[in-house]
Amino acid sequence: MKIPQNKIYEISSSIDIVEVISAVTPLRKAGRSFVGRCPFHEEKTPSFSVSQEKGVYHCFGCGKSGNVFTFIMETENVTFFDSVKILAEKANIQLEFENDPYDSDRNKIDAIYEINNQAARYFHNNLTGRDGAYAMEYLTQRGLDEQTIRQFGLGYSLRDKDSLYRQFVNEFSKEDLIDSGLVLNIGADDFRDRFRGRLMFPIFNEAGKVIAFGGRRMYDETKDEAKYINSPETKIYNKSRTLYGLNFAKQKIKETGYVILVEGYMDLISLFRYGVENVVASSGTSLTNQHVKILSRYTKEAVVVFDSDLAGQNASRRAIELIIENDLSVSIIPLPQGDDPDTFIKKHGLDGFKNLLNKRQSIIEYIGNGYRDKGMLDSPERKTDFVREIIGLIAKMRDEIKRDFYIKDIAEKFAIYESIIRKELEKNSRLRSKGLTRELTPSGSELQLRIRSSVKLSIVELMLIRLLIDSDAKTKNFLMDSLEINLITDASAAKIVNYIMMNIDDPEKTSHVHLFNEFQDDRSKEIIGKALLDENYVIAGSKDKNHLNEAKQVLNQLKLMNIRSKISDIDSKIKSANEYTPETLELLNLQQNLKKEQVELEKGMKSI
Ligand code: UTP
Ligand code: MN
Repeated sequence: MKIPQNKIYEISSSIDIVEVISAVTPLRKAGRSFVGRCPFHEEKTPSFSVSQEKGVYHCFGCGKSGNVFTFIMETENVTFFDSVKILAEKANIQLEFENDPYDSDRNKIDAIYEINNQAARYFHNNLTGRDGAYAMEYLTQRGLDEQTIRQFGLGYSLRDKDSLYRQFVNEFSKEDLIDSGLVLNIGADDFRDRFRGRLMFPIFNEAGKVIAFGGRRMYDETKDEAKYINSPETKIYNKSRTLYGLNFAKQKIKETGYVILVEGYMDLISLFRYGVENVVASSGTSLTNQHVKILSRYTKEAVVVFDSDLAGQNASRRAIELIIENDLSVSIIPLPQGDDPDTFIKKHGLDGFKNLLNKRQSIIEYIGNGYRDKGMLDSPERKTDFVREIIGLIAKMRDEIKRDFYIKDIAEKFAIYESIIRKELEKNSRLRSKGLTRELTPSGSELQLRIRSSVKLSIVELMLIRLLIDSDAKTKNFLMDSLEINLITDASAAKIVNYIMMNIDDPEKTSHVHLFNEFQDDRSKEIIGKALLDENYVIAGSKDKNHLNEAKQVLNQLKLMNIRSKISDIDSKIKSANEYTPETLELLNLQQNLKKEQVELEKGMKSI
């Protein structure tokens, strides 16, 4: 992907940044620059400043800054490449790509769109045709009428091995069919359809084009197969950016002022059928940060209605955190045991659902009820746990006014002094450097040392040391094979890890006692002590227990921290540059790639 540098200059110099930004937030002239309310964080008084001559913006409130390309990237949620394309079009500048993969890419992308589009029609015709009688019966049983089936373009994939392939290969190349995800190459010149004998749900992008499918199994004989399978990611389908139903729901989301989040295709379709149309579902993956970012373009409030089972509860907990981190308001509708939104609205109708909606719970109520149901609000200790958990969530909110509101609410509801909550909150935000990293609480004389060694020690590094010493052989081998010492940022911790790895086969040298002899300075001793003896980090169970999963998590987390710090390094480099030069754009590109890597890792962590 190469766009000639001079094109980028040409585009940025023919575009008025003030005009572009004004479309998102009103600006007025103030001295040499323009000011307005920052589109990246909520604020009452304008602290967002745009320099027309320099072509850059900066927010004195949240620190966001950039040029017209980054502005489009952030507000439209697109890559650097796409931002250039969007602005080129706006400026009426032709982008030509000499001997560049782009052209063949373009053809490929068009082909995949066309395959998906025709496949949707093909599956739908199967459903309404002779072979679809059973599937149609199934849908009717589940209460779907013709109009709903048409609106969502539902379909049916035949049970034959390769009926779609045989029909489509006349018009499309084998390679494109495979790249669309609809056809699998299972041997030399042997192809089969990915979806067979399934109810088909086309997945649309925001513009309403079909980009992928979800397929639900229907036959008892296939019970051992996954209930749903989904298209793999392709050049046009990015799971972590796709929200099922958004194309249908976006207008209603704006009108009602909030979005309802559900887990399943059928949940969404059922709600729509009953007239609840401000709904989206994540498709084939759990909710991601990018999903929430996309939603935040339409609304500032989300209502989470997930299944009542444990998996659903865990998923909603994660969703709640993501929503809060993106400064949206969130409330939760807990469903009766055994129900999902689909079954609930069928049993209780629109009015029943509206009743639930009216009784939606704030995070405080939701988490509080969870504790109460387990009888855990009775003892003072448990109540403290609860308050800590809530504060952990509130600490993720970036909006101070909102945080304040929550603090007052907790203080009142649970009869706790506001000052205590604030103190805890402060501790929390100090402990929390982004993500899972957590500084050790400095104790006494250690504080002195901490000031000198400014590097933060994370819980992940402690866990790593602990796993290297106190886990099974398989886990240790895995770590020996996959760990790179430069992922460890804390110099003392790195030394310790290095030493252990060098002596991994020598039980004497890696014994707890010896480690304290080997490392005499206070900081190292504290690290070893925390890692091996602090009961918060000690491994439960015996030595032969398998800790491989834990090790994988730790490794991924280390990689993630590494990437995050690279990303933020680039951030500060970009910020300290006064002008936007080709180098800054290079950096932005690099950062964009790192962010992709980050997303991959985050995805990987979910599947562990
Ligand atoms: P559910 O198992 O709750 O299914 O999965 P559902 O939506 O209620 O479907 P019905 O009512 O049984 O037909 C929720 C969502 O999780 C994804 C799908 O997106 C599904 O809609 N999922 C589930 C998968 O991707 N694969 C699976 O094997 C199961
Ligand atoms: Mn269901």
